[in-house]
Amino acid sequence: MTDRYAVIGNPIAHSKSPLIHGEFARETGQDMVYRRILGDEGGFAADVRRFFADGGQGMNVTVPFKEQAWELADELSPGAERAGAVNTVILLPGGRLRGDNTDGVGLVRDLAENNGFDFGGKRLLLLGAGGASRGVLRPLLETGLATLVIGNRTASRALDLAAATAAHRVSGCGLDDLAGRRFDLIINATSAGLDGGVPAIPDDCLAPGGWIYDMLYGDAPTPFMRWGHEYGAGRALDGLGMLVEQAAESFFLWRGVRPSTAPVIALLQGKRVSS
Ligand code: ATR
Repeated sequence: MTDRYAVIGNPIAHSKSPLIHGEFARETGQDMVYRRILGDEGGFAADVRRFFADGGQGMNVTVPFKEQAWELADELSPGAERAGAVNTVILLPGGRLRGDNTDGVGLVRDLAENNGFDFGGKRLLLLGAGGASRGVLRPLLETGLATLVIGNRTASRALDLAAATAAHRVSGCGLDDLAGRRFDLIINATSAGLDGGVPAIPDDCLAPGGWIYDMLYGDAPTPFMRWGHEYGAGRALDGLGMLVEQAAESFFLWRGVRPSTAPVIALLQGKRVSS
C-alpha cells in the first residue's frame, strides 16, 4: 500500500515540501505520497490525530505549529527536546508519535557540505531569539565554531536563550551591542525579511569576506542577502539548501534511505531562475 505523508502549516499553499519529497521518493523508489494540510490554530492536535488515524505514516510541521507539535508528541528526540520545537513527526509501532527536529542539521549540512563552509574556529552571529533560532542552536554548537553570539532586537530574549545553552562559547546581546564586533558568518533567523526588512545591525559587523546565511528564501535574493552583498560578503546564501537538507533528514528518519539532495536543490534553483 502507498504510504502517506504530509506537511501541516498555515499558510501552506506555497510549501515546496511536496515537490521535494516527491523527487526524493522517485529517486529512491519509495512507494509514498506527500501532500499539504492547511492547519488552523485551534485544531492542530485534532488534525494531526486524524491524519495518523487515517493511515498517515509521518508528518512535517511548519510555521506556526512547531511548538504545538512539541507539546503533542508522545516522545521526543534529544535534538527536538532541546529545540523546544518539532518539524518532523514519526509514527512508531503501536501508534505513538515521536517528534524530531531536522532544521539545525539541515542548516549545518547546507553550509558545510553543500557550500564548503569550514566552521572551525569561526565567530558566528545568529540573529533572532525566537523558535527559528532555538531550533538550530544545538547543531551549530556541535560544529567546532569558536564563538556564537545571539543578537536580538529584544536583548533580554537573546540573553535568556544564550543562558539556556549553558555553553561558555555562547553569549547574547541586543543589536546595538554588536557595535565594534566582527563575525565570519552571520545567520539571519529573524522574521524581519517577511516584511522586506533587515535587522538593524551595524554596517561593519561582517568581517571582510565573511558569509551571510538567510534562513528565509524567495524567488529573488532576500533583503538580508542584499545587505550582505552591500557590505562585502564573500558569500550570501538563502535558506533553499537548508529546506532541502532538512527534508532529506526527515525522509531518512521515515524511510531509512538517504536521498540525493544536489539534484533537488538544482531543480528548485532552476525553477526560481525561470519563474
Ligand atoms: P520564529 O519562531 O519564526 O523565530 P518568533 O518567535 O516570533 O518567530 O521570533 C521572531 C524573531 O524575529 C524574533 O527574534 C524577533 O525579535 P524580537 O524578539 O525583538 O521580537 C525577530 N524580528 C522580527 N522582526 C524583526 C525586525 N524587523 N528586526 C529585527 N528583528 C526582528
